[in-house]
Amino acid sequence: MAIISASILAANLSELKEEVRRVEGFIDEIHLDVMDGHFVPNLTFGYPILEALRTFTNMPVDAHLMVTNPAELIKGFIEKGATRITIHQEVCYHLHRNVEYIKSFGVEAFVAINPATSLNTLDEILPYVDGILIMTVNPGFSGQKFIPTMTEKIKKLTDIRKSRNFDFKIAVDGGVGNENAVELVKMGVDVLVMGYGVFRNPNLPNLRNEIKSLL
Ligand code: DX5
Ligand code: ZN
Repeated sequence: MAIISASILAANLSELKEEVRRVEGFIDEIHLDVMDGHFVPNLTFGYPILEALRTFTNMPVDAHLMVTNPAELIKGFIEKGATRITIHQEVCYHLHRNVEYIKSFGVEAFVAINPATSLNTLDEILPYVDGILIMTVNPGFSGQKFIPTMTEKIKKLTDIRKSRNFDFKIAVDGGVGNENAVELVKMGVDVLVMGYGVFRNPNLPNLRNEIKSLL
């Protein structure tokens, strides 16, 4: 069954606790967008925000590391309570080593790729990952539009998963909401990362019901 991962980048951060309380009945996990101002043109969260989250929620937390040095941050985010680490293929010289390192702590290892990065670059890592995150916008900001050609990319990945008998999860991140979430789940997506789709969506309860009613 597909899950909703709520990106707090789109929350009202001056009321983070209340924002999480408001939506927690309709989400399955929290998505933490860690940005360094180098890999992406924005700066966001570090360890303190995860520590703050952990004072009021036990929900699973995915640390999506959009930084040029993800390997150096893996252990820290796990120690602070992340239950999944998502690292980008584009910045890992030793992707296999990094994936195995994440898994050695007993947390999930996902590998993300940007819209212009080919699925071919994942060929050798697929047997080792717990999941692949397809960026459906260029990373850096919440509230951007889903890039339409990413639909084909997701389909291709579901085909590869099937034909090679893999069981990794597929996550999508960026521009996901009322218009496309159900269709994405029907295609085989397991994790819907949503910022605006969670925190700025009056229709969230209905969307969640629809998603959970799918097989
Ligand atoms: C973009 C981030 C996303 C973003 C999603 O770089 O990785 O997680 O917050 O926000 P929406 O769902 O609003 O596009
Ligand atoms: Zn993200």
